[in-house]
Amino acid sequence: MKKSSRKAFYITTPIYYVNAEPHLGHAYTTIVADVIARFYRLAGYDTFFLTGTDEHGDKVVEAATKAGEDVKAYVDRIAASFREAWPKLDITHDYFIRTTDNNHEHTVEEILTRVYDRGDIYFSEYEGKYCVGCERFYTDTELKDDRCPIHLTELKIIREENYFFRMSKYQEWLIDYINEHPTFIRPERYRNEVLAFLREPLEDLCISRPKRRLSWGIPLPFDNNYVTYVWFDALINYISGLSYPDGELFKRFWPVAQHIIAKDILKPHAIFWPCMLKAAGIEPYRHLNVHGYWNIAAGKMSKSMGNIVRPMDMAGEYGLDAFRYFLLRDMVFGLDSDFTEESLVRRLNSDLANDLGNLVSRSTTMIVKYCDGVVPAPAEVGEEDRAIREAVPRVIEEYEALMKEFTFHKALMAVWELVGKANKYIDTTKPWVLAESDQDRLGTVLDTIVGVIQTVSVLIWPFMPRTAEKIQRQLGLEVVGKELGFDSVREWSKTKRVSPVTKGPPLFPRVTVEREEPVVPTPELVDLNDFQGLDLRVGIIRRAEPVRGSDRLLKLTVDIGEERTIVAGLAPHYDIDELNNKQVIVLANLKPIKLKGIESQGMILAAEDEQGVHLVVTDAETKPGSVIK
Ligand code: MSP
Repeated sequence: MKKSSRKAFYITTPIYYVNAEPHLGHAYTTIVADVIARFYRLAGYDTFFLTGTDEHGDKVVEAATKAGEDVKAYVDRIAASFREAWPKLDITHDYFIRTTDNNHEHTVEEILTRVYDRGDIYFSEYEGKYCVGCERFYTDTELKDDRCPIHLTELKIIREENYFFRMSKYQEWLIDYINEHPTFIRPERYRNEVLAFLREPLEDLCISRPKRRLSWGIPLPFDNNYVTYVWFDALINYISGLSYPDGELFKRFWPVAQHIIAKDILKPHAIFWPCMLKAAGIEPYRHLNVHGYWNIAAGKMSKSMGNIVRPMDMAGEYGLDAFRYFLLRDMVFGLDSDFTEESLVRRLNSDLANDLGNLVSRSTTMIVKYCDGVVPAPAEVGEEDRAIREAVPRVIEEYEALMKEFTFHKALMAVWELVGKANKYIDTTKPWVLAESDQDRLGTVLDTIVGVIQTVSVLIWPFMPRTAEKIQRQLGLEVVGKELGFDSVREWSKTKRVSPVTKGPPLFPRVTVEREEPVVPTPELVDLNDFQGLDLRVGIIRRAEPVRGSDRLLKLTVDIGEERTIVAGLAPHYDIDELNNKQVIVLANLKPIKLKGIESQGMILAAEDEQGVHLVVTDAETKPGSVIK
């Protein structure tokens, strides 16, 4: 495909203040941007992804002073910590912008000059209540007990002459624009919030700070006694990062611009920015995508509250892909969410280890065991097979639509429904039985399973690129994501296998949070009667199934001359498929107990050493029900 004929996609994150090291909130927004950028790349779009740092304003000066550092040295140091954080989270931005970059400063000067020349910036006196933390004046109605509603600090009365942007002039235009473009601000709750705000008269925006009060900023091109208000400076990054006005990037990507922000900075993005663009004669962006806040316990996370979750710590502890998956799966984009380590572990154990990990492990194990890693050609495709094969294109379509709307949790739910279907399909088609009875049918079933897994691997790539690539390598596929896109899996037969299927280590080892009971050796001697009181018998496992709500337990159906249900903690040690038809020794007269609501009617004997848990067996095939004495 020729480059110029490809569609374009442009995504930005907020540029983060360099008054704090990167934390979970920053990581979330940046990972969301990465997921969407990867998704559009897979879909064949020419994509540009911009992130960076916001380095002017008194907040930053205050932080540098507090750290006892020269401001320039301080902003360089923190900007570097953001720049270094992102590759560790597999962020694939195309450009990292800093508001102290020369190019950016020039663009800000250019926009200011344009708007000034058009008569939309004027000089006036202003007196008001100012919060240093927020870097803004507050009106009396906005105050809380006469204090800043965010920081709850006392406000300074400041009277000064400043430059103002005639924002009020654009109020009607903006209301009309939002009404005519229903998805300009999304999700809808934030669009409604903005429209509600615009029902009150819009005030003009003070866009300067006198140098005697703040010198760390971009000087106004028309008055050297002032620097530019940090928001007027920062918002312009979205076009200076594309080399506005003449850059090829600007021409290609600005018409399709999408921003991602959290609700805290809705007003500057939904109101100041479109008005600024209009005044400068630039088209508005396409979509403003607004998400909620991650909360830890009750309050929001921020440095001042001292409960920062260091993204690198969580990713290091549980694996980067699990971390990325959790953030995108647990938060409903637009709403707030509570972050807890327990919910991350729960997702890791259930969705990732149990559902996806198990699917890949049992499938690759069977293909290696029954077919030496070569996926057999499918024979006749029956109704059962068609049902799952036909679900694949439907899921791809649903997923693409949900991704484009930023409904990530639902896109992942659609993929996991397919994973669940595949696991169930294996349970019902029982390839381990077919391996002994019906090679043709085995071929169809294994081919179906591999087809589903390869689609899943592509769909999860934007979220979990490492896992996707591991699966693709195990399946012997060319790694999708870099060069290959959705089209490679949209049609069943198009995917090329370049090498045999192989088994790999578990994709997501389970995390055990419960404490193991210490095993206390019992040195007491027993007499023969004690031993003879035990009804030990040879058994054969006829069926093994996971137990809902447990990562350790399996429900086994065991033939000991009669059928028994036994619940055993074998899941961490054996794959379900390995247990089928396995011979075991059963303590048959143990009092039944209920585990996770299932009555367990006996116990299976096993030994444990450093290598793990091993089932006790007899040394030759022995009839089920035979007594051990
Ligand atoms: N510098 C401005 C943005 C200028 S953009 C032209 C700024 N910086 S910030 O460092 O405070 O970053 C705010 C953004 O960080 C939020 O909009 C959001 O993207 C992210 N988050 C910070 N804390 C967050 C949570 N607790 N939860 C989710 N995201 C949050 O504002």
